[in-house]
Amino acid sequence: MKIVLGVGGGIAAYKACLLLRLFKEAGHDVRVVPTQAALTFVGAPTWAALSGHPVSASVWDDVHEVPHVRIGQQADLVVVAPTTADLLAKAAHGLADDLLTNVLLTARCPVLLAPAMHTEMWTHPATVANVATLRERGVTVVEPASGRLTGADTGPGRLPEPEDLFAAALALLESGESGQRSREGARPAEERTRGRRSDHALAGRHVVVSAGGTREPLDPVRFLGNRSSGRQGVALAKAALERGARVTLVAGPIEVPAPDGADVVRVESALQMREAMTVAAQDADVVVMAAAVADFRPSEVAEHKIKKSADADDAPVVTLVRNPDILAGLVASRRAGQVVVGFAAETGDETGSALDHATAKLAKKGCDLLVLNDVAAGKVFGKDDTEVTLLSADGTVTSVPAGTKETVAGAIWEAVVPLLAP
Ligand code: C5P
Repeated sequence: MKIVLGVGGGIAAYKACLLLRLFKEAGHDVRVVPTQAALTFVGAPTWAALSGHPVSASVWDDVHEVPHVRIGQQADLVVVAPTTADLLAKAAHGLADDLLTNVLLTARCPVLLAPAMHTEMWTHPATVANVATLRERGVTVVEPASGRLTGADTGPGRLPEPEDLFAAALALLESGESGQRSREGARPAEERTRGRRSDHALAGRHVVVSAGGTREPLDPVRFLGNRSSGRQGVALAKAALERGARVTLVAGPIEVPAPDGADVVRVESALQMREAMTVAAQDADVVVMAAAVADFRPSEVAEHKIKKSADADDAPVVTLVRNPDILAGLVASRRAGQVVVGFAAETGDETGSALDHATAKLAKKGCDLLVLNDVAAGKVFGKDDTEVTLLSADGTVTSVPAGTKETVAGAIWEAVVPLLAP
């Protein structure tokens, strides 16, 4: 989605940097349009570096590209955070004396304004009237949060936290409503619903994702585990929700919160995960085994905590047995048309490259898509960023540029969607 992030001249402009990152991590193309005053708080290089686009507050830069019209026209969503009292007044009255106010006049997509100012300015009758006018016109004006303001004073006027603004912006995109109802007639219906993700391609699909590691019990207090954080599986679940899917997340121990909206089934051991995945996969359109499943488990689980004996040299010997390969089992029992995705953490060695090993694994496991993580030199586990290669059963190999696990999740869904039955 093309998102315009307008930034007004308030101290809360710094929070817009975090909002920008959230949008970028979710795979959106974000163009920042600050006001001149906003640039006093956070400079143009920061916005340009974070967004990957040139930044200007003026209508007089790059005039040949007609930015004062184009940026608004091409946007799928405009978010202004913070919106000052001055910006609210300009927007309510249709003034257009800089790039951002021009964008607000030319945009026909949903518009979300997040005011931030001192309580006196927020409650002033002029501001109250401007907000009412804008809401009447269909613009979404979110309520400011209450709390500590710039100085020692407190009250309503704080910019809501970036995560809350991100959620509100996504909800607005989801609703698919044009924010500017009075102008809807000027725009064809299919264009008006462009506010929905263009890749709402998982709508009506049931997606099952496993995430995290497993814990293989030794006794009531000890287990064998691994370093998986669950970030990639959670990012996949989140990205599937954003694309309209019903999502079941089968989660071993994970270090990150499960996304709102997913049905979460908590498990610990590989055997429990196999059980949960088999049940959830029964009506699934896509099954993704992103979990790091233990290959072995202790052959016996002691009923009571294993005690140390008096002999300091004495230690128990733990015998391991193989765990079932859940992915292979899911492939074997998959229903018609179901797409099964596996992961492979590989390193190259004297017998072949990481890609060679992954190609062999794809064939052995029989899944439709294999996501290769090159785990040489401690990459991937527990990290925010990752770099993967996607191997399809038809032989296609796609390198996904390094990025956050959220960005990579988006790329994985892009590769899955064409494999789905109509
Ligand atoms: O064989 P390997 O462990 O490298 O395969 C990794 C893939 O297989 C991952 O998708 C992982 O979730 C899955 N797997 C599994 N059951 C196991 C081991 C791995 O489903 N016991």
